[in-house]
Amino acid sequence: MTRDRDKPPVVGIGEMLISSRSLAEYKAMFNLTESDLSRRILDCPGGAAGFTSAVNGLGGDVTACDMAYFDGDAEQFAGIVAAETDRGNRYIRAHAEHYDWTFFADPDEHLRLRQHAAADFAADLSRNPHRYVPGRLPTLPFPDASFDLVLSSHLLFSYSDRLDPIFHLDAITELMRVCHGELRIFPLVDSASAALYPHLDTVLTELRNRGVAGEVVEVGYRFQRGAYDMLVCRHIAREAS
Ligand SMILES: C[S@@+](CC[C@H](N)C(=O)[O-])C[C@H]1O[C@@H](n2cnc3c(N)ncnc32)[C@H](O)[C@@H]1O
Repeated sequence: MTRDRDKPPVVGIGEMLISSRSLAEYKAMFNLTESDLSRRILDCPGGAAGFTSAVNGLGGDVTACDMAYFDGDAEQFAGIVAAETDRGNRYIRAHAEHYDWTFFADPDEHLRLRQHAAADFAADLSRNPHRYVPGRLPTLPFPDASFDLVLSSHLLFSYSDRLDPIFHLDAITELMRVCHGELRIFPLVDSASAALYPHLDTVLTELRNRGVAGEVVEVGYRFQRGAYDMLVCRHIAREAS
C-alpha cells in the first residue's frame, strides 16, 4: 500500500467541516441500542456533535476526541461551530438533490436540528471540558482498551480526496487499540461524490493482518444518497496454541 502522491484538487465542501450531528443521527447512523448507550463510548472525531452532551446528560459515559479541540477556548469555539453549521447547511441547500429528505424533512429542518446539536455541544464544552479531549489521529491520548464502543463518523472514508489509505489503516488500528469491543465507522462513501471508498477491500485485508476483522452492516440512517452502511470492526480472537 502506498501513499497518494498526486492528490486530486479538493472539491465538494472544501475545508473539512466541523459538523454537529445529533444523538438521533448517531443512533440511526450506528444502529445504536439503549444497551450500546450504557457502554464506555469514545466518539472520534467528535467535532461539534451533540452526541456526547446528550448521552452523558442521560447518565452515559461518553468521551469525545477531535483535533479541533486543540484550538482556542470554549467561547471562541462556539462561534466557529455556529459558522460551520451555517456553512454545512449552505452546501446542502446548494446540492439538495444529492440528499434523501426523509430523516430531515427539508434544509430548514436540517439547519434547525444541527444548530440545536451545536448549541448543546458548545454549552457542554464549557460545563464539562474534560469530556472533550484534543487528539489527532492516527495517535490517540488514551490507554489500550479504554472504551467498550468507539464511534467514528464522517472522517474516515468520507474524505478520500485528502486522506490516503495508509492514514485510514493507521487510524483504524489506533481506534481499535483503545477499543475493548467494537469500532463502528459511518459512512463508507465519499462526502462529495458519494462513491464507495475505493480502497475498502485493501484496507480490510491489511486490517485482518493486524488482527482486526471488519464487517459491512446496513444502517437505518438515510440522508446522503449512497450512505447506507457502516463498517463494524472487532478484534480477532487469538486461537489457543
Ligand atoms: C465532518 S466532522 C464530523 C464530526 C462528528 N463526528 C459529526 O458527525 O458531526 C469531521 C471532524 O474530523 C476532525 N478531524 C479531522 N482530521 C482529524 C484527525 N486527524 N484527528 C482527529 N480529528 C480529526 C475535524 O476537526 C472535524 O471536527
